[in-house]
Amino acid sequence: MTLQEYVANAERLERELAERLATIDPATRIDAVKGELRDWRAQLDQLQKSITTVPPDGRRDAGIALNRVRKRFDDAMHAREAAAPARTSDATADLTMPARHPWRGGRHPVTLVIREIEEIFRELGFTIALGPEAETEWYNFGSLNFPPDHPALDAHDTLYLGPGTLLRTHTSPVQVRTMQRWAPPIRILVPGNAYRRDFFDPSHAPMFSQIEGLSVDEGVSFVDLKATLTNFARRFFGTARTRFRPSFFPFTEPSAEMDAQCGVCGGSGCPTCKGTGWIEILGSGMVHPAVLDAAGIDSERYTGWAFGMGPARIALSRYAIPDIRLLYDSDVRFLEQIAR
Ligand code: PHE
Repeated sequence: MTLQEYVANAERLERELAERLATIDPATRIDAVKGELRDWRAQLDQLQKSITTVPPDGRRDAGIALNRVRKRFDDAMHAREAAAPARTSDATADLTMPARHPWRGGRHPVTLVIREIEEIFRELGFTIALGPEAETEWYNFGSLNFPPDHPALDAHDTLYLGPGTLLRTHTSPVQVRTMQRWAPPIRILVPGNAYRRDFFDPSHAPMFSQIEGLSVDEGVSFVDLKATLTNFARRFFGTARTRFRPSFFPFTEPSAEMDAQCGVCGGSGCPTCKGTGWIEILGSGMVHPAVLDAAGIDSERYTGWAFGMGPARIALSRYAIPDIRLLYDSDVRFLEQIAR
């Protein structure tokens, strides 16, 4: 086909479109209009295919002519759609029914908490470190200064996969893995799942998320621990009041639990804080020299502090969720109330 013939064909189609549109009642629904023009559209598609028969130096102009017709059609359809009268009462439609919004997905409440914690510590120079969930006894216990007769090593408390391997009971083994790999200064945050032989009940799950922090350098002291964690509590819970209570972990000495003043009642006592005015947030302490030594770090030169907390527990108080199991049910009706 010559270019002239092609353009003439395009113009003919354009005229035909205008003539046919003029005969279709403006109130006709758009899909019906498109149906009536089906044979016209077939001609347009045919014209598009035949562009290869135009000599190469004319194809550009042929394409312009083709696009013009196509645009005419699209514009006409849009105009019809906009002008079409709204569909009114259809006897079977219940106009009071709420619209169905599409569920676009969102982040799980526990993920939201983890992200928020990560952001606060990122500003202080902490990076993310990850480790395996199937661990060896040595990384999970031995390197962390657990004595061999510690009850946590019991099969009652821990899910063993085989002799010497288990599902990690905390994220602390990643402390050791990181210290083996990198020289101080170390500032890491370790989010991940941990496993214990607990039954599902309102406040326990056999698999739960933990987030751990570790800072190792020369001259690091308990002051750094306290200042950093208090800053965290202020940022995360919006409360300046924290409370440190002496505690015990084999891998830290001294050890402390940190409580934050209950953000729901402001400390006067409510169901969220079980009437105490305080919420238990985390366990922490100065890294035990035996742990530094086990990881190959000179405990005469370096000191460190660490903490571990449970984002699921924190999500419970943050979003006033009464039962931890709701977080694992994957019930969208629940999750979409919180997910962002
Ligand atoms: N690993 C401890 C736990 O699972 C938490 C913790 C981490 C405590 C780091 C102190 C320091 O309970």
